[in-house]
Amino acid sequence: MKVTVVGAGNVGATCANVIAHRELCNEVILLDIKEGIAEGKSLDIWQTSPINLYDTRLRGVTNDYAATAGSEVVVITSGLPRKPGMSRDDLIATNAGIVRSVTENIVKHSPDTIIVVVSNPLDVMTYCAYLTSGLDSTRVFGMAGILDTARYRAFLAEALNVSPKDIQAVLMGGHGDTMVPLPRYTTVSGIPVTELISKDKLDAIIKRTTVGGGELVNLMGTSAWYAPGAAAAQMVEAILRDQKRIFPCCAWLQGEYGLKDVYLGVPVKIGRKGIEQIIELKLNKEEMELVNNSSAAVKEVMNVLDNMNAAALK
Ligand code: NAI
Ligand code: 2OP
Repeated sequence: MKVTVVGAGNVGATCANVIAHRELCNEVILLDIKEGIAEGKSLDIWQTSPINLYDTRLRGVTNDYAATAGSEVVVITSGLPRKPGMSRDDLIATNAGIVRSVTENIVKHSPDTIIVVVSNPLDVMTYCAYLTSGLDSTRVFGMAGILDTARYRAFLAEALNVSPKDIQAVLMGGHGDTMVPLPRYTTVSGIPVTELISKDKLDAIIKRTTVGGGELVNLMGTSAWYAPGAAAAQMVEAILRDQKRIFPCCAWLQGEYGLKDVYLGVPVKIGRKGIEQIIELKLNKEEMELVNNSSAAVKEVMNVLDNMNAAALK
């Protein structure tokens, strides 16, 4: 089994490291456009194998897509990250060009692959990969919800002084400030979180979650990578091990939640075929309004991409 990770930067290299460390496949191809970087990082990661005791092989390549042929899963992390003061949407023009050319090359060599998009702005870059790939939408989806719920769960674990392992949560919407954490679907070992924390404290945690990526950009001068890389690797694991896990992921909606033709974060079941089910929660009016609002924000940026594509065809 082979997995390709495109982009050997912070997120891509972290993701490749987790995939290898957890022996999710036999071979990981790490590909970057910058000469030597993927080769160097793969070699460095491979040299942890005698320490971390795994035998998944890693191979770094510079833009050599032939090496990616036959990949079961491809994770796309190539693109610019945010700098302080930038929104994820500021990255659209540059990253759309990158994601488009990467996707074309990937499907040329792995026509039946499953693509997990990480590049930002996430929902729109997933749409871009979907349009370019010609693959069924069940095979092209984005990583954001696992990261955003991980942040939410980590903040809650700290506030409640409990293990993060016991916190389960669902979050919907786009990967941006309009994301929708759902307290009604948040439990601590089955106990509704609202029974354990005051509304004020929970509201503050929800607010912090929605700007969780920006908090890290401000601290580090670039965006996060440990949690994003691990989150993408968790999706790869669910696919390759056919785990039927339920995660919030960025999926193509065709009428679910009354929304059509939009890539948006929703709970899905992930297995060997990719997205095997989109789960429709019975949202109340207030929750649905927040999701609609988030969908409208994502659609606005999708329209920017559509207009760019239309202008390029003229
Ligand atoms: P980075 O700058 O560390 O790495 C990006 C890598 O992509 C660089 O090594 C660069 O050479 C490579 N690259 C650029 N163009 C390429 C091309 N055409 N083909 C192959 N490789 C190419 O950035 P980082 O921190 O790894 O972030 C990567 C992307 O992931 C960014 O767009 C960032 O905003 C996004 N991101 C998304 C998250 C999410 O939750 N979906 C979370 C964190 C980051
Ligand atoms: C994050 O949420 C910037 O999307 C990136 O960390």
